[in-house]
Amino acid sequence: MNIQALLSEKVSQALIAAGAPADSEAQVRQSAKAQFGDYQANGVMSVAKKLGMPPRQLAEKVVQLLELDGIASKTEIAGPGFINIFLDRQWVAVHADHALIAPKLGITPVEAQTIVIDYSAPNVAKEMHVGHLRSTIIGDAAARTQEFLGHKVIRANHVGDWGTQFGMLIAYLEKVQNENASDMELADLEHFYREAKKHYDEDAQFAERARSYVVKLQGGDEYCLKMWRKLVDVTMTQNQITYDRLNVTLTQRDVMGESLYNSMLPGIVADLKAKGLAVESEGATVVYLDEYKNKEGDPMGVIIQKKDGAFLYTTTDIACAKYRYETLGADRVLYYIDSRQHQHLMQAWTIVRKAGYVPESVPLEHHMFGMMLGKDGKPFKTRSGGTVKLADLLDEAIDRAGKLIAEKNPDISEQDLKELVVAVGIGAVKYADLSKSRTTDYIFDWDNMLAFEGNTAPYMQYAYTRVASIFKRAEIDLNGLTQPIVLNEDREAALATRLLQFEEVLTTVARDGTPHVMCSYLYDLAGLFSGFYEHCPVLNAQSEEIRQSRLKLALLTQKTLKHGLDTLGIETVERM
Ligand code: ARG
Repeated sequence: MNIQALLSEKVSQALIAAGAPADSEAQVRQSAKAQFGDYQANGVMSVAKKLGMPPRQLAEKVVQLLELDGIASKTEIAGPGFINIFLDRQWVAVHADHALIAPKLGITPVEAQTIVIDYSAPNVAKEMHVGHLRSTIIGDAAARTQEFLGHKVIRANHVGDWGTQFGMLIAYLEKVQNENASDMELADLEHFYREAKKHYDEDAQFAERARSYVVKLQGGDEYCLKMWRKLVDVTMTQNQITYDRLNVTLTQRDVMGESLYNSMLPGIVADLKAKGLAVESEGATVVYLDEYKNKEGDPMGVIIQKKDGAFLYTTTDIACAKYRYETLGADRVLYYIDSRQHQHLMQAWTIVRKAGYVPESVPLEHHMFGMMLGKDGKPFKTRSGGTVKLADLLDEAIDRAGKLIAEKNPDISEQDLKELVVAVGIGAVKYADLSKSRTTDYIFDWDNMLAFEGNTAPYMQYAYTRVASIFKRAEIDLNGLTQPIVLNEDREAALATRLLQFEEVLTTVARDGTPHVMCSYLYDLAGLFSGFYEHCPVLNAQSEEIRQSRLKLALLTQKTLKHGLDTLGIETVERM
């Protein structure tokens, strides 16, 4: 049930019946304060202006024409022409009842789109570090949300698996293999990369071999390809361990690295030339874009092929967008990449649109995010100033969660503790990130994210266990609840209304790629539930009807928290 969409439609109809143009916007929003009702329509004022009519007069006409029988118990006009809508409790109760038994809590079936989501994208022969964390977890929340709504999601892990560094890496892999070193050598990717680089810088013969391997690899040489594949495999096998620990849904099948587009690149360059978009400039091939000016105020040149024939990161992203539309059949493409790459993407997509590779009807969206900072406000680093490996960060999260839980729960069993620390530790790291608006930088702070109060994973997970425990204690399931939901108390009505807003939140997150909206909603819901539970006795309610009704509200809360946290990739536990 999408109440906002329903009311928007109703108010729009009334506006049009009152003489407004067909494209008039009702501007229906959730009201910020209970005194303004559950929803308010703010569109009247701007329509009245267009019609040259006093806004309150139009508002009165709209209210008269508004058909909300059975949906709203009251509508009133406020201020210059706002329309406040108070939902009918009976209507809310019926829909809450329906949400309990309907699939996916009764959300409206969507017209399924194919949505390609580009996220995570670590680089081969390097260990994943904190720089990949935001893309990975925000992107995964987006993928889960779109899927929950019913869209077909194609996860595209745009791994950095190509480039001139592979000559050096292959040469070093060869050396390691010749020396019969164990695979352990490879498992430490940071070490491996550093050693390869060292040999390249210090050993002229090695460097020579490395350069010849680059050329061979690009030419499709069997041996070099085999070595290259080994490097990719080892890296992605390791990254998979991190994905699994993070409860991220990516698998090895989702790897669509840069190399996938290699074969398309010469054709793209030729085509852009033929279309008159690309030109030769000092041996390189360049696209000049009027939309972007350089320092001198001239159109900026975007190089798509270098003098030596090499293609660039931009060329690959042009091909990649084309592929996602043409081959994958994308209706929409979302890119979870940090904000520093914004200009890069805009340039690539400007070229894509000009060349007609992806029609305007298929959105290419950069869902960018800021950096992860330390408490000092500087980029998050290790004590010694190095980049923080993701695996180490997760170890620390689990370690810290373990100490915290053991402190709070001295009697907890070894086995319970083990499960709990993973859910809480990993959940805390993820939730801290997801709960902040993604567009800005954010401060990574262990104490905040592991706090049991406030909008944190431990709080949310605990809130979930509290609701779940009601059913454990009373051994009740839905089948035993035959009475309908009744909403006599304000707190009951407020909780039920908020529960029905789940779909609105999902829709917003899916549209804007903003999981923090879901976090705020769930946090608010947990708070409403707390108030309800405190003031409205559930198991000891004054009558069996009310007991069942309240149990149903609790059950719907439990399910909503569960599904909501699930779209975020946050695990729930039954006991804490
Ligand atoms: N591998 C890149 C990096 O680590 C990110 C790739 C993002 N995706 C893309 N289509 N360019 O910076």
